[in-house]
Amino acid sequence: AAWPQPGELPDNLFHFDITAQDPKTHARCGVFHTAHGDVPTPIFMPVGTKATVKGLMPSQVADLGAKIILNNTYHLAMRPGADLVAEMGGVHKFMRWNGPILTDSGGFQVFSHNEFMKLTNEGVSFRAIEYDGARIRWTPEDNMAIAEKLGSDICMQLDQCPGYPATKAYVARAVELSSMWGERCWNAHTRPDQALFGIVQGGMHMDLRLRSLAHLEECGDFPGYGIGGYSVGEDHETMYETLEPLVAEHMPKNKPRYLMGVGNPTTLVRAVASGVDMFDCVLPTRTARMGTAFSSEGRLNLKNARFKHDQRVLDEHCDCPACAGGFTRAYIHHLVRQGEMLGGILLSQHNIRYLLALMERVRAAIAQGRYEQFYRDWMDSPAANDF
Ligand code: GUN
Ligand code: ZN
Repeated sequence: AAWPQPGELPDNLFHFDITAQDPKTHARCGVFHTAHGDVPTPIFMPVGTKATVKGLMPSQVADLGAKIILNNTYHLAMRPGADLVAEMGGVHKFMRWNGPILTDSGGFQVFSHNEFMKLTNEGVSFRAIEYDGARIRWTPEDNMAIAEKLGSDICMQLDQCPGYPATKAYVARAVELSSMWGERCWNAHTRPDQALFGIVQGGMHMDLRLRSLAHLEECGDFPGYGIGGYSVGEDHETMYETLEPLVAEHMPKNKPRYLMGVGNPTTLVRAVASGVDMFDCVLPTRTARMGTAFSSEGRLNLKNARFKHDQRVLDEHCDCPACAGGFTRAYIHHLVRQGEMLGGILLSQHNIRYLLALMERVRAAIAQGRYEQFYRDWMDSPAANDF
C-alpha cells in the first residue's frame, strides 16, 4: 500500500499539546495532531457509523463546526467491505470528508447485541445479524488490517465491552481479553499515518480499571486512550465513582482520553471537569430522527401537540441552520408528524450544533481559567436536569 512513510509525515503527528489547564478542576484544553488536521479538545465527535452522518452532506457537518467524525470498522467491514473502501482511495475520499476520522473497532457492536457471539483467546466469532447472518471470525490482527485499509486517522483496538450488570468475574475476563487483544493490536498495527488508541475496560471496578490501564501502558506507547464499558445501563453516579478517579488521578496526563459512547450534555460537562478530552455518541442524531431536539430548556419532543402553533425556533440561543434559518417549532412538528425527511435533517443539524457549540463554550471557559464556574452555572441551568 502507498501509505505516507514516517519521513513524509509532520514531526508533531499524534502529539497531544496541552494548551490550557483549568486551575480548579482537572479540565484541560489540547490539540491532537492528525494527518487530516488538528483536533482541538475537549471535543464531541458526531457519529457517521456507515461512512455517513445520516442525512447530512460532509460540508454541512463541517459548517456545524465538527472537527472530527466517527466511523465504525465493523459496519464498514460488513458493507461495503474494507477492500472496496481501499479501492476507492480510503474512507476520507469515499465519503468526501477530508477532515480527521476515528474508527471504532466494532468491539462494542459485536458484544453489545449479539447472542451468537463466542469468545476465544484467538478472537471473536459472531453472526453478522444486521447483514447476511454469516458467521464471522475476527482476530485483533484482522481488525487492524481492516482499519488500515479504511485509512482512518485514529483507530481503536479490538476490545470486549461487558454489559451492566455483570459479575466481577465476567468483567475480569473481559479485561484479560481486552488486554491481550490490545497488545496484539499494538504489535499488528503498522500504518504510520494512523494512530492506534488502547481501550481501558473494567466496568465499575476500580481495581480492574487500573489493571487494564497498567497493562496497556506496559505493552506500548499508545498515543491516546479510550475509556470503554460505560453507559451500558448503569446509573450516572455509579459511572462517576470509578470514572472520575480513573481519569483525574491515574490516566497519563500527556495523552488524550476518550470517553466512548457518551453524549449526554450534562455528562460531557462533568466528565470534562475530571479531564476527559473526547466524546462520541449517537444520541444527538438518533434522537433527532425520532423527533427530539436538545435545547437550553432541556429536551423537546417535536411530535408533541404542544408545538403545533409554536412560532419560536428550536432554541433562541442556537445558530444552526434550522434556528438561524427561522424554521419554527410548528413547522418542524409538522415535518416530524408527516415523517418528512427534512424534519430529521433539521433536528440532526440542530442537535449536533448544540453539542459542538457547548464544547466551544467549554473550551473557552477552560482557556480563561473559569471552568469551575461554568460547571456550576451549567448544573444550575434548566437543561442540566433533563439530560
Ligand atoms: N463505544 C461505547 N463503549 C464502547 C466500548 O466499551 N468499546 C468500544 N470499542 N466502543 C465503545
Ligand atoms: Zn438550532
